[in-house]
Parts: sequence; C-alpha cells; structure tokens
Amino acid sequence: MNKISFSKFIYFLAPLEDNSDNALRTLCFNHGADYTSTEMTRLQGLVTKNKETWSKLNFHDNTPAIIQLLAGNEKSLDIFLKDFKPEKGFSGFNLNLGCPSPDVIKLGLGCAFVKRVAKTQKLIDIFRKYNYPISIKLRLGMNLKEKQKKVYLNLIKNTTPDFFIVHARHGGQKYIEPADFSIYEECVKTGKIIVANGDITNKSQVDHLKSIGVKGVMIGRAGVFNPNIFNMLKGKKYSSVESIKKEYIILADKFKSKDRYRNNVLKRIGKDKDIDAQRLI
Ligand SMILES: Cc1cc2nc3c(=O)[nH]c(=O)nc-3n(C[C@H](O)[C@H](O)[C@H](O)COP(=O)(O)O)c2cc1C
Repeated sequence: MNKISFSKFIYFLAPLEDNSDNALRTLCFNHGADYTSTEMTRLQGLVTKNKETWSKLNFHDNTPAIIQLLAGNEKSLDIFLKDFKPEKGFSGFNLNLGCPSPDVIKLGLGCAFVKRVAKTQKLIDIFRKYNYPISIKLRLGMNLKEKQKKVYLNLIKNTTPDFFIVHARHGGQKYIEPADFSIYEECVKTGKIIVANGDITNKSQVDHLKSIGVKGVMIGRAGVFNPNIFNMLKGKKYSSVESIKKEYIILADKFKSKDRYRNNVLKRIGKDKDIDAQRLI
C-alpha cells in the first residue's frame, strides 16, 4: 500500500466518471500526476457483488490510485472491507461527499452527507479498523444555505480522515459558476490537510494555494483535456498532443478500456482551449 505523504505538494488526477479508468490514470501519472483516483464506486454495488462495480476496483498496473466510494452504511462498508484485497498502487480510500446528482442526494449521500458529521466519523472509524488510509472529497454543502452555514468547515473540524479534498462549490452549483477560492484559507486554519479542487488550470493559482498552506491540488477536467497539465504546473518538460493521444490509445488497448471511456477521453484530449465551451456537467 502506498500511503500518501504530504511532505511535498501533491498533484492528483480527480475521479471522473466514465473517464478516469486505468488508461487515463496511467497516462496522467506518466505525465506528472503524483496520485490518481478511480471514478465513484457505489458501495451498494460492491456488497451486492455487481460485476461492473467490482471491475472499477481492478488495477492493471502500479499507478498510484485512491479508490473513491459512495458509501453511507456502516454495516455494508464493514462487509465490503472484509472482502477487499488491496492491489499494488492502491493508495487508500476516498469517501465521496460531493456528488450533486439528484439520485444520490435523494439517498442522503454525496453532497447531502456533508452535514452528517457523526455518521461520517463512524465510516472513517471503520476504514481505520482495517488500517486503510481514508480521505474525504467534499463540496461546500448541498446548497447555498449550507455553504453559508459553513457545514463544510464543521465537517473538516470535527472528523479525522487523513486529508480533505475540497471542491469549492456547493451542490447547487454548475461548472458555469466559478469555484470559490476564498474558502480555502479558513479550511487550512483548522490545521487539517487540505487539497484544493475546482477550476485549477494554471501555475498562479497553484502558487497562491501553496502560499496559504494548501497541501495539494486535484485536477479533473483539465487533466482530460490536457494530460500534460501536471508536468506543466510542475515546470517540467511536456509532450506533444499527438504523442499523448497515441500513448492513451496504447494504454486503452492494453487495459481493455470500455468504449465510453475511450470516446470521452479521445474527444477531449488536446481541446484544452475548449474547457469553458465544453463544461461537462
Ligand atoms: C465528467 C465528470 C465526472 C465526474 N465524476 C466524479 C466522480 O466520479 N467522483 C467525484 O468525486 N467527482 C466527480 N466529478 C467531479 C470532479 O472530480 C471535480 O471535483 C470537478 O470536476 C472539479 O474539478 P475540475 O474543475 O478540475 O474539473 C466529475 C466531474 C466530471 C466533469
């Protein structure tokens, strides 16, 4: 197991449903991402032994990845963790407290879970029982009212995962509205490890985040449109779009990526000038 250390600033590829399978994860890792994430995996599908859900947990190489779970039930989590065998590259679990889909909110999960502090801690305690690293990825609450009440800060102060990835939007916000970078300072002041997420595309943003004590960044859409972004932000050499595309196709063939992943990634790679025009959700 690859426990994440924040002794240096860390660059993550974000979980991206129908995009971040092993091929994209390895591509981004090869081009500067320190860690990557599986897309959201539903605990319910894991405990009911759904094959497609379990397939999301297969690692085909050693690329470091956290496994992201959508989970709310302690008993189910315990049942799943009893069965789980970490593969090489596994870098811990991540709990999704950010998903804004109505079907997820209806279940009280995703961004609807941000206010459920005691329940979140109970889930964290179960990961600890099995000695697995655990992080939380959250939005700022389910809606503007919850953001204004700072439910996210209450969660950060009163739960104890290894680190928090804070997507600086609330659940009612679409990508057309900018992420609110002003919230990070207060998050950092809690003394917890904070990774920033949302609209990160350039070095001046990263420099600002470093200067206020943020310990890493998680990059989603920009990582698909331009997998070079990680090396670019690190000030390292980067590859041509053509060679990146070729490398992706080789990886997707090798890891037998499903068509929807290939199509989603291939239509976006190299189109980073269009991120604003192609807001994905
Ligand atoms: C196509 C797509 C799929 C996503 N899937 C997930 C997911 O499975 N789990 C999750 O926590 N967030 C998911 N997100 C949110 C991203 O991880 C990230 O928080 C968001 O895109 C903001 O970061 P960015 O501006 O760097 O893209 C998804 C976003 C997009 C655009």
